Amino acid sequence: MNVLIVGGGGRENAIAWKAAQSPRVDKLYCAPGNAGIAEYAECVDIGAMEFEKLASFAKEKEIGLTIVGMDDPLVGGIVDVFEREGLRVFGPRKNAAILEGSKAFSKDLMKKYHIPTAAYENFDDPKAALEYLKTAKYPIVLKADGLALGKGVLICNTPEEARDGVRTIMEDKQFGDAGNRMVIEEFMTGREVSVLSFVDGRTIRTMTSAQDHKRAKDGDQGLNTGGMGTFSPSPFYTKEVDDFCQKYIYQPTVDAMAAEGRTFVGIIFFGLMLTADGPRVLEYNARFGDPEAQVVLPRMKTDMIEIMEACIDGKLADYELEFDDNAAVCVVLASDGYPVSYQKGYEIRGLERFQGRKGFYAFHAGTAFRDGKVVTNGGRVLGVTATGANLKEARANAYQATEWVEFDNKYMRRDIGKAIDEA
Ligand code: AMP
Ligand code: GLY
Repeated sequence: MNVLIVGGGGRENAIAWKAAQSPRVDKLYCAPGNAGIAEYAECVDIGAMEFEKLASFAKEKEIGLTIVGMDDPLVGGIVDVFEREGLRVFGPRKNAAILEGSKAFSKDLMKKYHIPTAAYENFDDPKAALEYLKTAKYPIVLKADGLALGKGVLICNTPEEARDGVRTIMEDKQFGDAGNRMVIEEFMTGREVSVLSFVDGRTIRTMTSAQDHKRAKDGDQGLNTGGMGTFSPSPFYTKEVDDFCQKYIYQPTVDAMAAEGRTFVGIIFFGLMLTADGPRVLEYNARFGDPEAQVVLPRMKTDMIEIMEACIDGKLADYELEFDDNAAVCVVLASDGYPVSYQKGYEIRGLERFQGRKGFYAFHAGTAFRDGKVVTNGGRVLGVTATGANLKEARANAYQATEWVEFDNKYMRRDIGKAIDEA
């Protein structure tokens, strides 16, 4: 079967790498792809939001399965367009992708179905939000309702900061229409963990856990980014935590979506906070995490394509997922200045050193070809990933491999996986 992947980041590079191992796949395409994905897939110059063009391409190339990696096309309804054209596609329809597309929706869903999450209020009027903040407890968390590249969350320590935050989101519209509505929620403390899962509408199968590092700088300082590095599994995600989440969070979420007439097929990503009072949902995403996919997929033994097809066919209950009992760490090599402003177009040297080295991966995020060379083409450039017998070994391997590649303005966090030492 021919398979098309929609997206062009590190996550899609990991998905392409994994898909290429499936005996079910004859030829892989990726739109738009990047210089690393080109090793596994023919990259096609069509944007992820060009749904009609993508559907025509899928028909022309007799694509048997399209995998949508990114949130924007999912929330925008790409799956509905493909299904209308009679094409097989893996991902939630628009009415289900709202689980990620609207934080106000997801909070109301959790409240209605008693799924543990932070206390909150939704606002569509800045005046009402400002009034509410007068009697709120601090710190407090402000969230733009819609998609904001992982940057639409503000943690405010004082009433003044919160007032500025409301203005930033709802009046100055720093996150565009994502800020037409806003969630104000209780600040929680604890360990964060990401759990990704396959869902066929009724059955859910969770993957191994991971932890992201969202802030740009060491010690969780600096601005929020898409993610600067991950490790898997999380040593804090115990059997007891998993049992609780399976019973009170995962299956109830799938059932709630079905009960609302928004049957969810695809990936649900649970962003969790392990608080002193138990696990709570921080957020939902409707796709693989980036860079969570870069540590979860290398540890997955099961054929990903087979599982995706089982989801589409409503047969996930017949399958179990298997993961290696090793560990993986991903360190993002970024362009200095990310997530604010940075230069692109610098040559990347040393990528060949990953070739033939088992357990070492240079997943490309923002890269492109120029004059036969691979050059930097984004804020997050590479997700250097390594496995090891345990987390410490995986981390040592990953940091060693970060030295194999060089490019101007190369920047990375030096403390990815530091929490491992406290486990
Ligand atoms: P989100 O996009 O909703 O996951 O938020 C981005 C980041 O903000 C999360 O990964 C947390 O680090 C932080 N965050 C979000 N909501 C809360 C909360 N209620 N309490 C504390 N931190 C939060
Ligand atoms: N790494 C967080 C995300 O993909 O949203």
